[in-house]
Amino acid sequence: MSQSQFLFNSTGDAMRDAAATLEAGNLVAFPTETVYGLGADACNADAVARIYSVKGRPSDHPLIVHVSSMQRMGDWAEEIPEYAIKLARDFWPGPMTLVLKRSSLAQDFISGGQETVGVRVPDHVVALALLEAFENIGGKGVAAPSANRFGQVSPTSAAAVTEELGEFLDSKDQIIDGGACAVGVESSIIDCTGDTPRILRPGAITAAMIETSAGIQLGGILPHSAEDLNGITVIEQSETMVYELQEAIRVSGSLESHYAPAARVLLDQDPIAGQGFIALADLPTPVGVFRIASPVDVEEFARVLYAALRQADADGLIEVVVAQPAGEGIAIAIRDRLTKAQNGRKTQK
Ligand code: TXA
Ligand code: MG
Repeated sequence: MSQSQFLFNSTGDAMRDAAATLEAGNLVAFPTETVYGLGADACNADAVARIYSVKGRPSDHPLIVHVSSMQRMGDWAEEIPEYAIKLARDFWPGPMTLVLKRSSLAQDFISGGQETVGVRVPDHVVALALLEAFENIGGKGVAAPSANRFGQVSPTSAAAVTEELGEFLDSKDQIIDGGACAVGVESSIIDCTGDTPRILRPGAITAAMIETSAGIQLGGILPHSAEDLNGITVIEQSETMVYELQEAIRVSGSLESHYAPAARVLLDQDPIAGQGFIALADLPTPVGVFRIASPVDVEEFARVLYAALRQADADGLIEVVVAQPAGEGIAIAIRDRLTKAQNGRKTQK
């Protein structure tokens, strides 16, 4: 028997154990391709309540339900539009959350009292094994926000989860180590409750990919600089439309400040001695500046960004300058998170 088969078997045991932990109403932090999630049985009100207390998150913020395949989407959602099925077929498992009209399975403690539910099939072998093991013992889905304290940087490694939440978890909870996350920023959130899809949170599944897959143009015209137009707040401007209805739909990651390290995040300025610096590899490091990350392309930028922001804190840096990547695609998600990280520090002051 090869070593990989042994590894596979032991992973199976570990996943059954973790699934039983969820079934018993405890929490399991697990890896996904985007960031680590803090999971609970999505049908267990007490377990879900613990997610909120461990995260220190307001309880009216909805949670994403994670399932092992798109066939499970119908358990949680109703009146699923044709374009949402196309998106699910094209991008699941993957870094995309679909917001759909909820079924009766999605109770208020999942939806934050809204009539919608977020559903995602993550693209990570450990996450899928855990979800399948949980479904095999009758579980319907795993509610999981990012495994960080509210407003902090999402964890992209098991060590970062421990750093964020270790002191708030108890001995019956688990943290599964599945290595570093491959994508590094949270999933794209797509509102599928209207005639056309709308992006609520940009991520690795981009507007262009959604338009191609759904065969529908993301509708509407973006105003240029309006921050608030009758409740519509522009969060990013791309070739196509990316916006949110902030009052109608609560997306905590869309609050102006979020994803923030303790260090002050400064964007697109020349770093000076004593500051940290995160930038693409072709940008040089001035004398006296602490280079924290030098990703070679935008995908690597996304993958290492959160670990780099954590590193800035671990190094005790007061300020970290980030040269944001330009362009479309996942660069939009990176700029979205960095803008919020910058605001996070401002509001803490
Ligand atoms: O990549 C991800 O999406 C990660 C991994 C663990 O799957 N999860 C994640 O969850 O980022 P969280 O809770 O940290 O961020 C999800 C965002 C929150 O801002 C939440 O308010 C929003 O999604 N959300 C969840 N359900 C929603 C719904 N029904 N309508 C609108 N927004 C929703
Ligand atoms: Mg989060």
